[in-house]
Amino acid sequence: MTLDLAVLVSGSGTNLQAILDAIARGELDARVRLVISNVPGVKALSRAEAAGVPTLVVPHKQFPTRDAFDAHLVERVREAVGDRGVVVLAGFMRILTATFLDAFPRRVINIHPSLLPAFPGVDAQKQAVEKGVRITGCTVHLVDAGTDTGPILGQAAVPVLDDDDRDTLAARILVQEHRLLPGVLQWIAEGRLRFDDRGRPRFDGVVPVYWPA
Ligand code: GRF
Repeated sequence: MTLDLAVLVSGSGTNLQAILDAIARGELDARVRLVISNVPGVKALSRAEAAGVPTLVVPHKQFPTRDAFDAHLVERVREAVGDRGVVVLAGFMRILTATFLDAFPRRVINIHPSLLPAFPGVDAQKQAVEKGVRITGCTVHLVDAGTDTGPILGQAAVPVLDDDDRDTLAARILVQEHRLLPGVLQWIAEGRLRFDDRGRPRFDGVVPVYWPA
């Protein structure tokens, strides 16, 4: 079933681009119905416009509280994708409250540049370099009330090289982010996602892991 997506962004939008490209190549059965940015003028918005996708800028500072911002987002997202759509956080730099998450249960997805539960929060790549881990990666997960704590949908592994700094590692992880995120969305579009009796996501017929090439 074709997935209706709302993509929330705050920055460069390379993950949004990966979704748009996968759709254009016929590898992802989805339509991006709306891109919302909380930051005006970011590259993600021009990427959406170039693909003919409607965009909206909703600056969070214009709202008195997080809940008020989130309630506004719920309305906009519902108009675009209804209650069965999937919301993708693709470099969206705001924490969403229950006001938003309860409106789209098990339908809000985030991509994070580490192998969660290692290195949640900001600058996961720098955390990995400083800790000296030899393998890191990226994780696509359902969003819950915590920061990068929700149920894991899929992961890709990325080696950390001796001379890596934050930026070289981030670039290597991004390549895998751009495979993993459209891949997980496609498995959802194919109706493979279910939840086991402990509430953990499982994909029928797929091991949702990418290893380095
Ligand atoms: C990615 O590293 C993603 O994992 C993190 O924010 C970054 C967004 O990059 N959540 P982009 O805007 O998709 O280029």
